Amino acid sequence: MEIIILPSLRDAAVLGARRIASHVRSHARPVLGLATGSTVIPLYDELIRLHREEGLDFSHVTTFNLDEYVGLSADHAQSYHAFMRDRLFSHVNIAAERIHIPDGMTGDIPACCEAFESAIREAGGIDIQILGIGSDGHIGFNEPGSSLASRTRIKTLTRRTRNDNARFFADPAEVPHHVITMGVGTILDAREVLLFAAGESKADAIAATVEGPVTASVPASALQLHRTVKVFVDEPAASRLERAEYYRWVYDNKP
Ligand code: GLP
Repeated sequence: MEIIILPSLRDAAVLGARRIASHVRSHARPVLGLATGSTVIPLYDELIRLHREEGLDFSHVTTFNLDEYVGLSADHAQSYHAFMRDRLFSHVNIAAERIHIPDGMTGDIPACCEAFESAIREAGGIDIQILGIGSDGHIGFNEPGSSLASRTRIKTLTRRTRNDNARFFADPAEVPHHVITMGVGTILDAREVLLFAAGESKADAIAATVEGPVTASVPASALQLHRTVKVFVDEPAASRLERAEYYRWVYDNKP
């Protein structure tokens, strides 16, 4: 893992967007894995800026989102469909037919998950997967205990994640109990992973992800088994990393 400690999330967003832009500019059929959550908003803002001011073209890009709440329709304000539309898709020129987000309203969840996995395969796999992280170490909505080999499927949220995400809902009781999420195995199949974390509330999860054992109890720790992961963290999120000085040293002395 490459750990990149930066003064602010905004700096992380600029670096992450630069990496994505360079990939999108140099590939005929780039496939991006996208995430939701407050942490990735500055990243999407920067991609929108690159589109508007530097001509970054998304017309040939295919996207797959990590997850969606079961029972929220695409026009529900807290659905991840709505998040992506508001925060990215309505501001850039990604073709609607190349956008894939699990359908939280499907009548057949297993078939929907299977079709999602097939669509990823048919697109040639995910080139760059963007991730945030839950305070409990989840990626996508793979809660602690998720199989590290899991594929896209239904999951039940923990109490903690429901509480964490309640801030976005008018009434905390409205937070769905179930979600459809790419599995940890699906995420590990991406060719490259960019994980973003900011704030003290993520410090334990980041320490466990980067320096703890690989364990289903911290699903993000499975990323230690991936060859190409960049972890972008601000100072508070990096505050419990024992080898922080070494990561800074490595970054400052890149060969
Ligand atoms: C949700 C999403 C995750 C995201 C997490 C963190 O649980 N399913 O993909 O990483 O939120 O959100 P935030 O960035 O708002 O802290």
